[in-house]
Amino acid sequence: MNPPPSPLDPTPDEIRRWGRAAIDHAAEYLGSIRDCSLYPDTDAASIRSRLSQDLPHDGIGFDRTLETFREVIGPLSRQNAHPRMFGYVQAPGLAIAAIADLLASTLNANLTAWRSAPAAVEVERITLDWLKEIIGFDRSAGGVLVSGGSMANFSALAAARQTKAPADFAERGASSLTRAVCLYASSQAHHSISKAAAILGIGRKFVRQIQVDSNYRIDPVDLRKQIERDRAAGHLPVCVVASAGTVVTGAIDPLAEIAEIAREFDLWMHVDACYGGFARLAPSARSLFDGIAQADSVALDPHKWLYLPVSCGCILYRDPAAARATFGYAADYTRMIAEEADEAFAFWDYGPELSRRFRALALWMTLQSVGLNAFADAIEHNIVCAQHLEQLVQASEDFEMMTPARLSIFCFRYLPPALKARRPGEPVEQEIDRFNEQLLVALQRDGSSYLSNGDLRGRFVLRGCAINYRTTKRDMEILLEDLRRVATHISTVT
Ligand SMILES: Cc1ncc(COP(=O)(O)O)c(C=O)c1O
Repeated sequence: MNPPPSPLDPTPDEIRRWGRAAIDHAAEYLGSIRDCSLYPDTDAASIRSRLSQDLPHDGIGFDRTLETFREVIGPLSRQNAHPRMFGYVQAPGLAIAAIADLLASTLNANLTAWRSAPAAVEVERITLDWLKEIIGFDRSAGGVLVSGGSMANFSALAAARQTKAPADFAERGASSLTRAVCLYASSQAHHSISKAAAILGIGRKFVRQIQVDSNYRIDPVDLRKQIERDRAAGHLPVCVVASAGTVVTGAIDPLAEIAEIAREFDLWMHVDACYGGFARLAPSARSLFDGIAQADSVALDPHKWLYLPVSCGCILYRDPAAARATFGYAADYTRMIAEEADEAFAFWDYGPELSRRFRALALWMTLQSVGLNAFADAIEHNIVCAQHLEQLVQASEDFEMMTPARLSIFCFRYLPPALKARRPGEPVEQEIDRFNEQLLVALQRDGSSYLSNGDLRGRFVLRGCAINYRTTKRDMEILLEDLRRVATHISTVT
């Protein structure tokens, strides 16, 4: 006898009806994104009060569940697709990628190895080849899509440690090391570098902070000095991390010079290009990335400046053998039997994960259907928007840039007239810091534009990153209008 129909297995007609309802919602939502409030006026308790917290032994059905998404989850979220979402490095997502994610989950391919997902693995390999070409790597390089930049940086540093430390870390662990292993990164490097060093047993203390110049780029003289000092102290320098687009200011380290130093001292060179890497597509920024192809590894985040929805990061290794020595490991139950080289390929040799979702589909489908030129245009326009903001600030009486706009990042602050009249002097600087802190919080709550913050040489800065293909020059003007409007409600007496 057949079991009764299960709610886990809807009929094709039900699937069609659910899909239409969800897609109708997605279309309406994206169609009106410009008009919605960017940030909800809510708190944790009121969100929880609108979501049932009882373990649902009996389901309430798809329609009511979708209604909860439409009425509660969607509206009580930060609207990352909004054209004035300038906080952090937050991409808007793409409609095509959202549809691709639906198809990827429907197929439910598990991209461990070729034999488990033949066509899906080929799609990811082709997509990785495209990313290599964008960055200037040969197709012989290796790589894998990962959850994001933090995982990409972690994977790169694991490969660096395995390759450049004399002890076989993968086999014998840190106990076989007699010397401290040192990494070099600027004070502006993303915190995922130090976090990876802590997890990998290198230790945060041995991530040497290299000084930066006035443009927040690594100072090669200090880099060389610190490597020599560590060598003289009997430590083991293994890796230098350059940033191609730092998270706070968008600075690109002098990649070619750093590559030369890495060669001279036999260091692994890793480039964190998670934010900036795809700006190599923009004609105005391309030359800033000269030297990136000399790196041993490059971390990229398609879920940043290729606008994809999270989570889609990527790590590329110039020499795939280095990745295999780090991550390759065959248990009896995963061993390949009688496969040709191409079909014996396994992604588990290139990163920490075994089961992996079909991330590549969203990226492949978007690039295949839209084409790279549309991305190059959108990225260039984001850079133009950041420059427009800079010009507006420079022409104003009440704002000032805190460092020149780089790529699509801008750091600036508001100068309340009452405090501006009293400049310069340290106590006033602190009051301006406090005013801007309050201004940031008030702007975020206001919901028309969204910025995040940074600290530059001890000063609080309003920081924005234009990383949305919907953003226009007019949005940059509205951002300043919003700040001025919100500032009138903040007292200068602190
Ligand atoms: C330069 C840089 N590297 C790494 C990361 C970490 O990326 P993810 O959030 O995808 O882990 C970020 C995040 O903003 C970043 O800007």
